[in-house]
Amino acid sequence: MSAELAGRRIVVTGGAGALGRAVVARLLAEGARVVVPMRSRPAGSAFSQPDAERLELLPSIDLTDERAVCDLYERCDDLWASVHLAGGFEIASIDRTSLASWRGLHETNATTCFLCCREAVRAFRRQPRRPGREGLGRIVNVAAQTALDPRRGASMAAYAAAKAAVAALTIALGEELAPEGIWVNAVVPSIIDTPANRAAMPDADHATWVAPEEIAEAVAFLASPANRSVRGGLIPVLGRG
Ligand SMILES: NC(=O)c1ccc[n+]([C@@H]2O[C@H](COP(=O)([O-])OP(=O)(O)OC[C@H]3O[C@@H](n4cnc5c(N)ncnc54)[C@H](OP(=O)(O)O)[C@@H]3O)[C@@H](O)[C@H]2O)c1
Repeated sequence: MSAELAGRRIVVTGGAGALGRAVVARLLAEGARVVVPMRSRPAGSAFSQPDAERLELLPSIDLTDERAVCDLYERCDDLWASVHLAGGFEIASIDRTSLASWRGLHETNATTCFLCCREAVRAFRRQPRRPGREGLGRIVNVAAQTALDPRRGASMAAYAAAKAAVAALTIALGEELAPEGIWVNAVVPSIIDTPANRAAMPDADHATWVAPEEIAEAVAFLASPANRSVRGGLIPVLGRG
């Protein structure tokens, strides 16, 4: 455990998801205080008990609801970092992509990210300036390989477009917020080794997939005050995939 994140408050959206649970576990292991807004209650006990006093689970928050997101960040008066993992995925060729699906993918991936970025920035700015070089805070988003290379988005064009929006938002905000010492980055995973992906692709070589814990390590660094200068980055976390 490094001392850098000890006691720091960090919001993790999508924190009850497959990647989210690994990120939450990593941040708790680093001593952070973690806030997880959840749309629905995960089945079973997603989080371990020993860290319960530093883990705040907030149920029934839909991150496409502007008022709900504003309320979430207004209660985080000492926010240090905001990690935006909420998202969703669909495979569909263009002729099978409904307008509802297009809108849904943009809402789930891009709108949640936009609202949380905006409210995190407002929360950072409500705090007194920190001394030294660490700046006001950190934001970490999650894009996808289709955002780096849209050719990979064949048969999932709506998802690719939504994650491209996340990528563009990340780079633009990385520039806009740099003068205040708010670093904005995104991790860009390849296929993650999750139970859902294993079930969907049982015959794939799972050993080449990136583990959630490996992505969590990158997120923890990007969200840390130890990250003094990495900003506006789309950081590939591809494992051997
Ligand atoms: N899995 C992969 O191979 C892969 C590859 C590249 C990028 N990614 C990205 O990485 C992120 C995490 O992936 P994952 O596999 O961990 O997905 P996951 O297990 O489906 O987790 C996604 C989480 O986001 C939450 N969420 C979605 N929309 C929300 C909303 N409107 N309000 C509140 N919460 C919302 C979900 O809540 P509910 O349970 O209520 O739906 C869930 O907890 C996603 O953004 C995904 O696009 C994944």
